[in-house]
Amino acid sequence: MSEELSEVTEVGPAATEEAVQVRRVGPGGSMASDNAFAVALLTLWHRVSEAGGAVGFVPPVDRSDVGPAVAVVIDGLRSGRASAFALTSKRNVIGFAMITPGVRTQAHIGAITSVMVDPAHQGKGLGVSLMEAIVGLAAELGLEQVSIGARGGVGLEKFYAAMGFVEVGRLPGWIRVGPGDDRDEILMVKQVGARVR
Ligand SMILES: CC(C)(COP(=O)(O)OP(=O)(O)OC[C@H]1O[C@@H](n2cnc3c(N)ncnc32)[C@H](O)[C@@H]1OP(=O)(O)O)[C@@H](O)C(=O)NCCC(=O)NCCS
Repeated sequence: MSEELSEVTEVGPAATEEAVQVRRVGPGGSMASDNAFAVALLTLWHRVSEAGGAVGFVPPVDRSDVGPAVAVVIDGLRSGRASAFALTSKRNVIGFAMITPGVRTQAHIGAITSVMVDPAHQGKGLGVSLMEAIVGLAAELGLEQVSIGARGGVGLEKFYAAMGFVEVGRLPGWIRVGPGDDRDEILMVKQVGARVR
């Protein structure tokens, strides 16, 4: 991965009001995982959830319910266990994705979680830019494979497959989005570095 991705990368129509930056969050990044960032992430996560995004909630979603999910992410970033990228536009956080490398027997793999783009900015290629950054970071960290778990029934497997993720299995009925509406969690992996065996 190019070094710039660890700092700030412009995506979309640069030098305009709509310019979007891909910024690494936390140690080694250009964005601190401070309280202001936590509030911005809460706003993003709530907006994505209210729009029906598959990030752990089903609308209607109370903003306060998203707080504990954000707290886990911020804790991971501050402790150094996880790394993340944020998309920013005009000082707003409009996208986010995190990677948590494994430990001990799983130190060679990583789990990508909390992938989201603000509903007002979806469908413009930003999700792909975000995933390129996080997968690039995984390679830079020396990881061999990364995983993602996606809610079934919303087409996400196509989004990830287009980036080289391969479905390896499903946890059946793992996500209850409503009475009588259980969805599989689709497990997908991508090889990001040479496997050392
Ligand atoms: C999934 C998500 C991150 C994609 O970001 P995005 O910026 O909208 O995606 P892009 O514009 O980069 O899309 C790239 C391609 O993926 C496709 N795609 C995006 N979201 C998709 C979805 N949910 N299902 C199927 N295809 C999808 C786009 O149509 C596009 O295809 P094209 O190039 O053939 O037109 C975003 O839609 C989102 O935040 N969704 C809600 C939260 C969510 O479900 N997160 C996933 C958690 S596992």
